[in-house]
Amino acid sequence: MRLPSLKGGLALFLALLLLIWLALPLVPEGTGLRFGTGYRIFFTAMTLLGTLFFWFLGKERIPYPRGPAGVLISLTAVYLVTIGLLVLAGVVYPQFQRPQPAGAAAQEAAGRGKDLFWSDNVGCFRCHSAGGRGGARGPDLTQVASRAGARVAGLTADQYLLEKVSAGMTYRFTVPEYAPMMPPFGQILSEEQIGDLVAYLLSLEGE
Ligand code: HEC
Repeated sequence: MRLPSLKGGLALFLALLLLIWLALPLVPEGTGLRFGTGYRIFFTAMTLLGTLFFWFLGKERIPYPRGPAGVLISLTAVYLVTIGLLVLAGVVYPQFQRPQPAGAAAQEAAGRGKDLFWSDNVGCFRCHSAGGRGGARGPDLTQVASRAGARVAGLTADQYLLEKVSAGMTYRFTVPEYAPMMPPFGQILSEEQIGDLVAYLLSLEGE
């Protein structure tokens, strides 16, 4: 063992360890990059292997391949093993955060819609009840999700509710036996807010 070469290798090894275990966790969340413990263990193992590799080279006891074919084969082997390990690590520990499941986004929208529905500003609850609370000038909306799809031919529940809440009493369909008095919320609220309200209405039945 030649001491000087080991010293240099050791210093590099320790520097890389510090980088892996102290610097990588500091990568900000906003980048979407994630270096979990699995990744750091993998990087550590690779660093260790690399250090050992160069240490072995330093001992100069490894016979060099004889012909060009031998060189090519060793290069290919090293290449394949390295790429293979990297791909394996990528599959086992995906580095990028997966997109949020659709269910979570819909739940958040329904939560915002619920706040709007029961807020004094928007005040759907003054005319509508849901879950046993609210006013009676308009129909109870607890079960609206199951009848909304049958209101206007060709419109899904989702589409009907968006159009109805936007147009209010000016909509082409009004619920019979109620005085038309619902304001056209498309003029008052943003498209996103109406989408949130509809998400809330669609979630009511499950509650
Ligand atoms: C001033 C009273 C009033 C307010 C406020 C009001 N509505 Fe209405 N709404 C009605 C009336 C009356 C009807 C039934 C007549 C009609 O279809 O226009 C109705 C009908 C509806 C329908 C159709 C129900 C069905 O069975 O097809 C939906 C959906 C609805 N309202 C949602 C809302 C939402 C969401 C809000 C709050 C953003 C709201 N309404 C605010 C009075 C109101």
